[in-house]
Amino acid sequence: MPDKRQQQDILYVCDIEKHYLNNYYSYSKEKDYANFINAKAFSENVFKFAIDKIFDGNNPFSKLQEEFLKRTFEKMYNQPETVQHLITTMFLAKHISNEIEKIYNFEKEFNMSKTDFTFALGIHDVGKMIIPPEVLLSKEKFYENSEEKKMINSHSYYGEYVLDFIWKDIKKDLNQMLEEKNTRIQAFELIGAKKKQSFEDRLEELEKCDKDVLFKELYGNKGVVEIIKNHHESVVRNPIDKDTFKYCKGIVLSQMIDVLDALVQERCYKDKQSIEKAISIFKEKIQNEIKISTTIDARSVLEQDESKSLLADLNETSRQILNALDLRKSLLQREELEKHFTTNFGKDLNRGKEVIDRNNNVKEECI
Ligand SMILES: [Fe+2]
Ligand SMILES: [Fe+2]
Repeated sequence: MPDKRQQQDILYVCDIEKHYLNNYYSYSKEKDYANFINAKAFSENVFKFAIDKIFDGNNPFSKLQEEFLKRTFEKMYNQPETVQHLITTMFLAKHISNEIEKIYNFEKEFNMSKTDFTFALGIHDVGKMIIPPEVLLSKEKFYENSEEKKMINSHSYYGEYVLDFIWKDIKKDLNQMLEEKNTRIQAFELIGAKKKQSFEDRLEELEKCDKDVLFKELYGNKGVVEIIKNHHESVVRNPIDKDTFKYCKGIVLSQMIDVLDALVQERCYKDKQSIEKAISIFKEKIQNEIKISTTIDARSVLEQDESKSLLADLNETSRQILNALDLRKSLLQREELEKHFTTNFGKDLNRGKEVIDRNNNVKEECI
């Protein structure tokens, strides 16, 4: 975690929202309406894709978790490589936690359910949202003390703040959803309002509860936030606080999955490594750091056909998305873009229009 001085060097906390909004709304600022629609369609598609491929179409997440995942994908529309990484790590989390469950009670061992653990991996890099794409996607290797490097390294630290902004966005939309007849029930379901409880009471209840309970309510388990905050920290050597300690194993397992995926996938600044190399690092870490005496056969997880086809599909999706981004530069006519996105994503463009008008107003207020 960056110390106080480093935090000031990197970004002032009050500036994070500005960075977050700047990055996210960069396309709406240019009145790039089609890309806004595309971001919505992108997130819906990516979410459906993930559920189909990872969970055979059976969505295990709570409504709020689903909303957080979709909004994360939507806001990361300008960095599809990160979205791809989030989905692959979710896939690995699901399979590896199932492997562990064969020998141990996962929930008892890791203090969180397999679903919450998988969800955590799906949003673990949410802090990358505040990093400008030109830094994140640069082919350049940055020096250790450069501003860019500090910015990249701080993404886990700032992830927690970004989650707060996503929650703020959800709350803004909840009011709109309540006003429309056909989305009222959806709004109630989203915040888990019980029968006979008014929407306002439930929202107030959520706002009032202390941060620990709020985390639990929002993300299913406080360990999710601990994973986001600490997935690049050494929780084995450093003195750590009580909460982090409680979720220590989950944090280390998430780090391994993160490394495993980073090694086997290509990045803009590096080639991919062999599965053998990745797995030997993984096995060594699992023995030395988690210290559960089980042999998790990560190789069989990675080498099964399902896994291979997922990785191939992900690469294909990522390529399509990158093509769509390129299209933005060449097709400047709104009509053509609308036609393209309706054909490819079949989404309700009118709803997108309303949302973009609303968000343009929000942007003016916030920046
Ligand atoms: Fe990360
Ligand atoms: Fe990651």
